[in-house]
Amino acid sequence: MRSSLLLSSLLLGAEATIYWAGVAESGGEFGIYGTPGTGLPGTFGVDYQFINSSAVDVYVDQNKVNLFRVAFLLERMCPLAYGLGAKFNETHFDLYKEAIDHITITKGAYAILDPHNYMRYNDPSAQPYSGSVIGNKTDPAAATTEQFAAFWGELGRRFANNNHVIFGLMNEPHDMPTSLVLENDQAAITAIRKAGARNLVLAPGNGWTGGHAWTEYTGTLGDNAPSSEYIYKITDPANNWAVDIHEYLDVDFSGSHIECTQPYNTTLAPLTAWLKHHQLKAVISEFGGSNTTGCADLLTEALAYMADNEEYIGWSAWAAGPLWGTSAPCCSNSTALGSLEPGSLAADGSPGLYETVWEAVLEPLLPKTMQRKGAATVRGSG
Ligand SMILES: *[C@@H]1O[C@H](CO)[C@@H](O)[C@H](O)[C@H]1NC(C)=O
Ligand SMILES: *[C@@H]1O[C@H](CO)[C@@H](O)[C@H](O)[C@H]1NC(C)=O
Ligand SMILES: *[C@@H]1O[C@H](CO)[C@@H](O)[C@H](O)[C@H]1NC(C)=O
Ligand SMILES: *[C@@H]1O[C@H](CO)[C@@H](O)[C@H](O)[C@H]1NC(C)=O
Ligand SMILES: *[C@@H]1O[C@H](CO)[C@@H](O)[C@H](O)[C@H]1NC(C)=O
Ligand SMILES: *[C@@H]1O[C@H](CO)[C@@H](O)[C@H](O)[C@H]1NC(C)=O
Repeated sequence: MRSSLLLSSLLLGAEATIYWAGVAESGGEFGIYGTPGTGLPGTFGVDYQFINSSAVDVYVDQNKVNLFRVAFLLERMCPLAYGLGAKFNETHFDLYKEAIDHITITKGAYAILDPHNYMRYNDPSAQPYSGSVIGNKTDPAAATTEQFAAFWGELGRRFANNNHVIFGLMNEPHDMPTSLVLENDQAAITAIRKAGARNLVLAPGNGWTGGHAWTEYTGTLGDNAPSSEYIYKITDPANNWAVDIHEYLDVDFSGSHIECTQPYNTTLAPLTAWLKHHQLKAVISEFGGSNTTGCADLLTEALAYMADNEEYIGWSAWAAGPLWGTSAPCCSNSTALGSLEPGSLAADGSPGLYETVWEAVLEPLLPKTMQRKGAATVRGSG
């Protein structure tokens, strides 16, 4: 039953337009929890690290993926002493660029830049809730929308000549006015284009940019109006942006439970209709599942759903990364199931999620339409 469902999905997916598929590289945002200031700037390779380049090689050469979403922390790229803006910690930037260049230039794959900051800046010590909301005009400690634009203008300028680099504006804004999410997204895009960069941009909505809640009110602080009422208003002189969506499969869509119970065909239906109505595309840059058979079924269905609906143009699973050890990045109630990093093991010594989820479930379903060269654009390589 499941396999016939999948087969018909693949046949229907003849018009599929998934250009990029791969994994998130999580680790650049590590090492900050505790008293404010913990891990800033932190020691590279100990507190935080972007990729293990050999593991990226395994994913490209053996697993045939073409997309990596690489997390970093705004407070390390723009130290608090400088403030958010165009002045970077050049040592930190060079380390990040080395990872992005390895993925995009050495290996020829595509990379999403991921400031992993929940639309907040100045105190990551209790992410995802700590720190001032960027652009909060009644918080004197908050970075402004203009500072966020200056940051993206500079980062965009630095990667403008690498068309395998995709700009993810912000990880999971939440608990804030949705009008401010739009304002910040728009200011960043305007600054990126002014800096001469035409790269594909991924713009998030509010409510953790959750697909299931795209047309709903979310959260408490701020108005948290539905993302669907704002994000279509983005204007891009380069016409090269897509919506950034996160969508987990567990009961509350948080990715913190072992069981998968929320199928994409139901949870994403309103989002898909909205994308179609506004002729927009989306990348699902975070999703995942544990090693249960229920998750294998729903992950299979999720990939088929994305393949069947031309609104979806890419995906990256959460998460690989060099520092996870036996911990599970997602889809576990703190049982150490391992991660999507090649060679990962669970705490009990059995195979980690790389083997039990990536190799067993996701890899056999990699899209046939993946883009191997040319500029990343919302229309593919053209
Ligand atoms: C990096 O990845 C390679 C390939 O998976 C692995 O053999 C190696 O142990 C990893 N290095 C570290 C420091 O984790
Ligand atoms: C910049 O980053 C380097 C490498 O992590 C670190 O040693 C240095 O202290 C940082 N500088 C500031 C101002 O944060
Ligand atoms: C903005 O800042 C004010 C003052 O600190 C605070 O009361 C309010 O909750 C903040 N709004 C958001 C969305 O964080
Ligand atoms: C969605 O998929 C589930 C599980 O595969 C199936 O039971 C259900 O009927 C489907 N719902 C819709 C609306 O297609
Ligand atoms: C999932 O991984 C855990 C941790 O290694 C293991 O104990 C469990 O048996 C695995 N579950 C399945 C269904 O394979
Ligand atoms: C996590 O879930 C598993 C499987 O449902 C259960 O056996 C285990 O006790 C749970 N652990 C915690 C810490 O809740």
